[in-house]
Amino acid sequence: MCGIVGYIGDKKVAPILINGLKKLEYRGYDSSGVAIFGDNNLDVIKCKGRLSILESKVLENMPSGTMGIGHTRWATHGEPNDVNSHPHISNSGKIAVVHNGIIENYLKLKEFLQSQGYDFKSDTDTEVVAHLVEYHYKGNLIEAVIESINEIEGSYALGVICSDCPTEFIAARKDSPLIVGLGKGENFIASDIPAILEYTREIYILEDKEIVHLTKDDVKVYNIHGAEVKKEIFNVTWDVSSAEKSGYEHFMMKEMFEEPKVIKDTISPRIENDKIVLDNVSISKEDLDNIDKIYIVACGTAYHAGVVGKYIIEKLARIPVEIDIASEFRYRDPLISDRNLVIIISQSGETLDTLVALKESKKRGAKILSIVNVVGSSIARESENVLYTWAGPEISVASTKAYNAQLAALYLIAFDFAYKKGRLDEATYKSCIKELKSLPSKTEEVLANKEIIQKFASQHYNAKSIFFIGRGLDYALSMEGSLKLKEISYIHSEAYAGGELKHGTIALIEKGTLVICPVTQDDLVDKMISNIREVKARGAVVMAITQKKNKDMEKTADVVINIPDIDPLVAPVIAVTPLQLFAYYMAVEKGCDVDKPRNLAKSVTVE
Ligand code: AGP
Repeated sequence: MCGIVGYIGDKKVAPILINGLKKLEYRGYDSSGVAIFGDNNLDVIKCKGRLSILESKVLENMPSGTMGIGHTRWATHGEPNDVNSHPHISNSGKIAVVHNGIIENYLKLKEFLQSQGYDFKSDTDTEVVAHLVEYHYKGNLIEAVIESINEIEGSYALGVICSDCPTEFIAARKDSPLIVGLGKGENFIASDIPAILEYTREIYILEDKEIVHLTKDDVKVYNIHGAEVKKEIFNVTWDVSSAEKSGYEHFMMKEMFEEPKVIKDTISPRIENDKIVLDNVSISKEDLDNIDKIYIVACGTAYHAGVVGKYIIEKLARIPVEIDIASEFRYRDPLISDRNLVIIISQSGETLDTLVALKESKKRGAKILSIVNVVGSSIARESENVLYTWAGPEISVASTKAYNAQLAALYLIAFDFAYKKGRLDEATYKSCIKELKSLPSKTEEVLANKEIIQKFASQHYNAKSIFFIGRGLDYALSMEGSLKLKEISYIHSEAYAGGELKHGTIALIEKGTLVICPVTQDDLVDKMISNIREVKARGAVVMAITQKKNKDMEKTADVVINIPDIDPLVAPVIAVTPLQLFAYYMAVEKGCDVDKPRNLAKSVTVE
């Protein structure tokens, strides 16, 4: 998730681009750049680091032009550095491109363009677009862009300028958001409303596969076939801060509603012709045959994703998995050798305990596979294999969408390993992939059901202590549900394996005690129903989360949150969202600072 902005008009464009990018920095902040048309050529200034570095470079030698595009980056392909920063320029220097999204077939296009003599400077997928537009450019910029995007697979919001076309520029979108800001004698493009709100409140919201031609006095929108599309003007009433949250009250809620897209972005680039292909991961069948044990090491929410990882890798690939908290792992002299694979999980890629655990494992000869959300982060740089979660920047301290993306990555790994080890026959492998592909739409269904959870939270936010109880994968989910609640609502909470209740904890259950139960594992539903009956017999109030098909739950729990029917094996990816929503509404009801909870930091880079 990056931020792009563009302007054409009579005003000096540089300050407008910098201003707009500042409002988009929540979308990505590891590098940035601008391309400005002035004095008959393209002025390109770009660099690694926060936007303030670019700003000082631009202020040092303010370009005079009145048309330009800008970009603030969240690296996906190619780590953050000056060369990989946007805009990317074609070989002739005539075409400049900024891009938000992932070009899935960039390697194929790159090969073709190199065979046509194009020379690539960066490791990015985006640079392909600059050369492709130049390849198709025959004097008509919009035609060249349309021809190019008809060859591109993946997601994009693009801004394209050409030094031969000083009075126009082009933008296009598919899957990544893009708006057009309508001004008087000036027009804008941006990834999101905050970037242009200062200048206009009249916008066009571009739909998928729409291309826009902008001059300072006119805006025309076309579809992928070049036919003009009539657009409706949308009047923005939000203020800047709510616009950054796309109208949501908190980044946490915005990020939960990004989960369908995040899960899709993490899964779809790794499925080619119905086979799982893990980019940046080279672990072959032979490697797996030489691995007699896997360790999963992480902290906090990432650790909880690892617990799900243990269950599914052991169940499917039949390789023993040990899950460990990094701060414990690094000091317990772990029995690690070159016959081990260590899977490291981290959203930020900077958590110190996890980083040291990784280095410790490498020192002892283990193979490393890291699941990370930040390209170029310390953990990513230290790892020989990195499977990136494409969750985009996660602003809220409480991790939500990154957890769902980590689960999606772990399922890809488990299915891949199991298939390579011959543990999955073709039919099962295909149905696993089918279930993975169904996750984004099923997560949307879950999110649409939020009102019931909000109502339940409004009736119970004064609870002093809450228990999460689950069995199997639901026990792993309960751990995450409990942490989410604790860290943003400050309510004491514990997660328990359903079968452990009778061994002590049930002593704490009394009239009105709140118990939250994810019940998504078919072979354990009856066991969980007995557990629920046990706590209800002691006066507990129970909210259960289960698939629609489990009708008996209606007669057992006080409140039932239905999730769409889904294979229990992958249910955690969608069943966690009601737990995240519950924690969110409890915190909102209590008036807590949801996005910046007390005593916590987004990335723990100290011991
Ligand atoms: C989760 O909501 C917390 N922010 C925290 O537990 C977090 O998961 C933990 O600090 C690990 O962070 P990482 O994924 O960036 O390594």
